Amino acid sequence: MIMKLHSVSVVVILILAVNLVNALENGLARTPPMGWLSWERFRCNTDCENDPDNCISENLFRTMTDLVVSEGYAAAGYEYINVDDCWLEKNRGPNNELVADRRRFPSGMRALADYVHAKGLKFGIYEDYGNYTCAGYPGILGYSKQDARQFASWDVDYVKLDGCYSLPTDMDIGYPEFGRHLNGTGRAMVYSCSWPVYQIYAGISPNFSSIIEHCNLWRNFDDIQDSWASLESIIDYYGNNQDYIIPNAGPGHWNDPDMLIIGNFGLSYEQSKTQMALWAILAAPLLMSVDLRSIRPEYKAILQNKKIIAVDQDPLGIQGRRIYKHKGIEIWSRPITPIYQTYYSYAVAFVNRRTDGTPSDVAVTLRELGLQSPTGYRVEDLYEDVDYGILSPSTKIKVKVNPSGVVILRADVQPERFSKRPFNPYYYRYNQN
Ligand SMILES: *[C@@H]1O[C@H](CO)[C@@H](O)[C@H](O)[C@H]1NC(C)=O
Ligand SMILES: *[C@@H]1O[C@H](CO)[C@@H](O)[C@H](O)[C@H]1NC(C)=O
Ligand SMILES: *[C@@H]1O[C@H](CO)[C@@H](O)[C@H](O)[C@H]1NC(C)=O
Repeated sequence: MIMKLHSVSVVVILILAVNLVNALENGLARTPPMGWLSWERFRCNTDCENDPDNCISENLFRTMTDLVVSEGYAAAGYEYINVDDCWLEKNRGPNNELVADRRRFPSGMRALADYVHAKGLKFGIYEDYGNYTCAGYPGILGYSKQDARQFASWDVDYVKLDGCYSLPTDMDIGYPEFGRHLNGTGRAMVYSCSWPVYQIYAGISPNFSSIIEHCNLWRNFDDIQDSWASLESIIDYYGNNQDYIIPNAGPGHWNDPDMLIIGNFGLSYEQSKTQMALWAILAAPLLMSVDLRSIRPEYKAILQNKKIIAVDQDPLGIQGRRIYKHKGIEIWSRPITPIYQTYYSYAVAFVNRRTDGTPSDVAVTLRELGLQSPTGYRVEDLYEDVDYGILSPSTKIKVKVNPSGVVILRADVQPERFSKRPFNPYYYRYNQN
């Protein structure tokens, strides 16, 4: 069955890029951070005896650092090499200092940071606001100033602060306090918070004005797992709560829907394209968690898709939204540069959540998508090499979206009214009706 959606009516709400909030101004994360993070793929594997190539160790991070550079990820914009949980000794040292596991990180964290920096990348670390990290290693509670200084002395560039073994009611004080300690070191460090998600779990409504003021990014929802079901639950959370979440995002402060799991075991090729496209629409941090030694080339190509990365990294920093949802078809759109007069350009993602195994047709005019500039838009597909040419708002575009897949387009508003349509075979092919 081919589903035809001939008159998609779309409600478009424009969130103007007026930034009246007091935001964290440490000069960092002006666009969503990009990098590699160990957690989703490598978890808390500490068994270096039996699994030396996959355990959380300095070797793993050095190997991934090398591959981020040699395999072209750094050139595509991936910058941070981030250690997650399970890097610590179970106890602090004699002066209450944090100590990296002596067997797995024999050279220590400063040496690892130096290694990452020597490759032109940046180094991130993980800690927890509570008494313990989620995996049971020492947390920062009671030592936050000392720990911030220690991170600075290791030349850390990015700190993810989790929220296990702490009281969500204390977080309104604790997260800002650690942020001030980071600031007090004089070393600019990206500050990734888990503050809202733990409060939401506890039934507390997070104070986003304060979160924006103290954190560069924060988690709103569940940890991603290696499955389409997990990815769908995140997509739904961000769509269903968008009016509440979107206004908090902007340069220097981002909602974090969690890691990219592209290239692992759980997502198909189509589903992987969907994650990349929607993360770009959501202005999400792009933190890959995948084994870069064995990733297949088609997944690597998704992660390195420069056109989609450019959407994610758009300088306006406006998070996109779901503008249509009906019978398993969703349309998501994000205002991006360039702007002409009062008209934004847009990235538009058509997502097929249906599982009847054949592509679904979606047909919609640009105007129905909220693209109203009389000067028209230059429209191109960001995965397929399809250039639609310059289209007017009344043009109907038709896309075929594979089951659990996506079509993502970019529509750049044109500065001048177009007088004559340039010849473009795709224009005719896609606009026959
Ligand atoms: C953290 O540990 C201290 C000392 O044992 C204890 O008093 C406090 O209740 C703990 N906090 C939480 C949130 O578990
Ligand atoms: C500390 O905060 C001030 C005030 O927001 C800011 O100007 C400065 O860049 C921050 N410094 C660091 C190292 O984060
Ligand atoms: C939320 O945080 C802001 C900024 O820190 C503060 O001014 C405000 O009083 C807080 N609101 C509530 C309800 O606690």
